[in-house]
Amino acid sequence: MNQSRRLAIIHHNASDWVSKLQAAEPGLDLRGWHPREAMQADADWLSEAEALFTWRFPMGFLPRMPKLKWLQNAGAGVDHLVNHPELPQNVLITRADGRFGLWIARYVCGHLLYEAQQIEACRQAQAFNQWQGKLLPERLHDKLALVVGFGRIGRQVGLALKTLGMTVCGFATQDRHDTEFQINSVSRLPEHMPRTRVLVICAPGTENTKGMINANLLASGNPDLTLINVGRGSQVVLPDLLKALDNGLLGRAVLDVFPDEPLKPDDPVWKHPRITITPHHSGPTVPEDLIDDILPNLRAYADGRAIVGAVDRGRGY
Ligand code: GLV
Repeated sequence: MNQSRRLAIIHHNASDWVSKLQAAEPGLDLRGWHPREAMQADADWLSEAEALFTWRFPMGFLPRMPKLKWLQNAGAGVDHLVNHPELPQNVLITRADGRFGLWIARYVCGHLLYEAQQIEACRQAQAFNQWQGKLLPERLHDKLALVVGFGRIGRQVGLALKTLGMTVCGFATQDRHDTEFQINSVSRLPEHMPRTRVLVICAPGTENTKGMINANLLASGNPDLTLINVGRGSQVVLPDLLKALDNGLLGRAVLDVFPDEPLKPDDPVWKHPRITITPHHSGPTVPEDLIDDILPNLRAYADGRAIVGAVDRGRGY
């Protein structure tokens, strides 16, 4: 009988992941460690393991897994892995993004509807026992929503915004034919900005998307525009964003991701009255959701079949 294949788990909830992944694919030999314990992990066992499930690949860890062939990322974004100085090019990296879409769509709609339904103004009126009969919800029908990054997550966001009645335009590296949505190259973003109600960033963190929301682009913004960033902090030039808010080129910003996380307590963005900050929680890692997404590859690995859907490192996602 073939020996079970080994999948190592380095995660701050390692024991939870071991039991859940084992239940999902009983044919695997699994062991897990907290990132703090990674360097003390069982060397003999690890030296024969070919697969790793993790979010951060610990520096100095590679010599402990000389046979590593496949790394399953415990999340959607792989920028930290693609650019990892110690991860060899021949290690296949796979993402888990399929189940984050619904969470992120909910986040985007929740923050947009908070404005459109006038929730803050109603609460303020309530504080003074005031019945403000003229406080009407905003009509979102046919208003323009731009979604930058139109993979599985972006599409789900687009579908949700379309359900709210908005006109949705997706943006990708190039114009793309799609039966459901208009998908343009990001180079065409500026021409849409003056008429846009909400701009959602769902793009992966790559060299191409770094700093894409900058003074140049925001110069064609408008005072009703809300920016929602659920992509990567590196994509928004924060000083430019603050200026745009103060100069009427942007109405509000909802930021879930930052160049350095956690955001430092003295960062000026905390205090801006028209910025909402959330702690990188728009797509929470829920094992049940994530396992559904990665199960085909867990099974393939257990059976000795090829891993599918590996990240294109040149492209960065
Ligand atoms: C979270 O940001 C992720 O990439 O999964």
